[in-house]
Amino acid sequence: MILVTGGKGQLGSALGALLEKQGKLFRAPDRERLDVTDLAVVCEALNGLKPSLVVNCAAYNHVDRAEREPHEAIAVNALGVRNLALVCEDLGIPLMHISTDYVFDGGSKVPYTIAHQPRPLNAYGRSKLLGEHFLTSMCRRYYLVRVSWVFGEGERNFLFKVFRWAKDRGTLRIVDDQVSAPSYAPHIAQVLLQLCETGAYGLYHLHNSGECSRYQWASYALGRAGWQGRIEPVSSDHFPTPAERPAYSVLDLYPLDEMIDYCLPTWQEATDQWLKEAGYL
Ligand SMILES: NC(=O)c1ccc[n+]([C@@H]2O[C@H](COP(=O)([O-])OP(=O)(O)OC[C@H]3O[C@@H](n4cnc5c(N)ncnc54)[C@H](OP(=O)(O)O)[C@@H]3O)[C@@H](O)[C@H]2O)c1
Repeated sequence: MILVTGGKGQLGSALGALLEKQGKLFRAPDRERLDVTDLAVVCEALNGLKPSLVVNCAAYNHVDRAEREPHEAIAVNALGVRNLALVCEDLGIPLMHISTDYVFDGGSKVPYTIAHQPRPLNAYGRSKLLGEHFLTSMCRRYYLVRVSWVFGEGERNFLFKVFRWAKDRGTLRIVDDQVSAPSYAPHIAQVLLQLCETGAYGLYHLHNSGECSRYQWASYALGRAGWQGRIEPVSSDHFPTPAERPAYSVLDLYPLDEMIDYCLPTWQEATDQWLKEAGYL
């Protein structure tokens, strides 16, 4: 049985849907039923369920809010991982944990490999990096998978926000100096479930193939949906935010891309899939 924490989130629900489709036994409790920040709750859940694998999709993802409430981010993204790592190691359960491209500073001109040194620019990134340290120092059998720009079901993703803005406005200004690659939750779920069958524990990078700026991504999605408004590229200075974001955080997918029997769709194909699911295509 696979236990997915943060089961109501974008990735948690995509994993749940895929496990259901594959007829696998799983539990995907939400925060109310399994709060990863509570060690006693984690201990009781894992001892009771005795899963063969835990996939941690629980996270505090409010990048700007984390600047003024860093402890909240650390509680979930670092101490929550510590709790899971502690109990998983004690019970001999492998732990798959999801991290982020925001552990990097964005100064690279080439995709970040798994050998690149992290240097987060913001409180969210620092909390996720601390989570990585807890995982790698406390667990022997872990998969640590960094993803970027996750989008899927629900309202907590960039594309959802773009379409909400586009509904009320004739012109949109979108930043063109943040470049990465989107990660479509159902595609990421496919790869994670293949990876956990390999037993090849360690650090991995994963997103849909290709790269784009936020402006290019929004332009592509709105264009495909037949939006008639104007979209203009602007620099990040145009929209000052509490948290600094990396200018470039494309990930080098080696070696994961060579280990799996799944050709990762491009970000454009992933966007088309999202548009269909959301009823725009
Ligand atoms: N979203 C992105 O753009 C992005 C980019 C890079 C990496 N990632 C990483 O990818 C992973 C999956 O992200 P996602 O987009 O699926 O996130 P998401 O949609 O925000 O889901 C996270 C889930 O975790 C839950 N959660 C929060 N605190 C919790 C706690 N103490 N105990 C248990 N559950 C808790 C949240 O519940 P509530 O809704 O009740 O808070 C939410 O359902 C995360 O590790 C994230 O850091 C995400």
